[in-house]
Amino acid sequence: MSRKQQVLELCDKVHRDLKLAGLPTDGCATDGTEHSSIAAMWSSELGFGPMQALPAGGGEATGTTTPPEKIGDKSAKARPQSTKPASSNSTGGDGGGGAVQWYERAYDYWEDGDNCPVDDDGVLGGYGHISPTDIAGSAAFLDELKRMRPLLGDETAADCGAGIGRVTKHLLLDRFDTVDIVEQSPRLIQAAPKYVGRDRDRTTCVCVGLQDFFPPEDSYDLVWIQWVVGHFTDVDLLKLLARCRSALRKGGLIVVKDNVIGQGEGAFKVDSEDSSMTRSLGYFRSLFNHGGVRVVHQTRQDGFPGELFPVYMFALE
Ligand SMILES: C[S@@+](CC[C@H](N)C(=O)[O-])C[C@H]1O[C@@H](n2cnc3c(N)ncnc32)[C@H](O)[C@@H]1O
Repeated sequence: MSRKQQVLELCDKVHRDLKLAGLPTDGCATDGTEHSSIAAMWSSELGFGPMQALPAGGGEATGTTTPPEKIGDKSAKARPQSTKPASSNSTGGDGGGGAVQWYERAYDYWEDGDNCPVDDDGVLGGYGHISPTDIAGSAAFLDELKRMRPLLGDETAADCGAGIGRVTKHLLLDRFDTVDIVEQSPRLIQAAPKYVGRDRDRTTCVCVGLQDFFPPEDSYDLVWIQWVVGHFTDVDLLKLLARCRSALRKGGLIVVKDNVIGQGEGAFKVDSEDSSMTRSLGYFRSLFNHGGVRVVHQTRQDGFPGELFPVYMFALE
């Protein structure tokens, strides 16, 4: 099966799950494009062109995109809005050049100091002031996980899509002996040791796109992935989760913390500027299910400003 077919087949599975649950399957982009389905959206974003119906059960998921229509983008987001991702195993597959462009746009966005100064405000799109609330929510979540799962170790963690190492400094280094700071922007990761400060010797900086991140087996007690999975195509996200899963030590967990689209607001919203998307809770849950990862715990972050997308933490094994 071609990679394009893989993408569309996964879209089809998610579509069916959402339909079965009575959840929305359509969505839009900040450039005003409305998409009738997840498949139509990826087809457009990855340059597949008009879509062919899949042989079985394609249903509405395989429709073509609706003509662009200008709609307002009323939602601000806490993940404000990426060594150049030209050759990745994964990006090369999803949609050829379209996928490369999808990842390159994000890389260029985050490499640009005008979009992202090297501070909390930069990596949080002007919402640096919410960082303490974010970290408190994450710490409480990790406490719950530790209670639920005494086997969860405290030696080594990975901070994926780490930016300047905000999560590493304020959350992970308090709880783990060593942390790998994994980030694809050379500009941001170069700033990490100074930002982390005193405890920098307990960190290792790994400058790589997560789509090319292949951690060895048995590497981490915890893999923390915050405000970055929106930059991933569905197929690449499942591959990333599978690789992280096989890198977990005994009792280890992956935590995905990200924006989730509000109820009744559709299945997804694409940010055309930085190549990212916000998925609905149902969309996430369906992907996790099809990726073979189990959600062991899930909590909504509280205390964030109302204009932001809801933020959820998912603990996965
Ligand atoms: C909104 S910032 C979040 C940073 C950090 N997780 C935090 O919460 O402070 C998103 C980060 O993801 C990084 N990023 C985007 N796409 C990536 C990719 N494909 N691989 C690795 N990092 C990526 C960006 O460079 C940026 O540092």
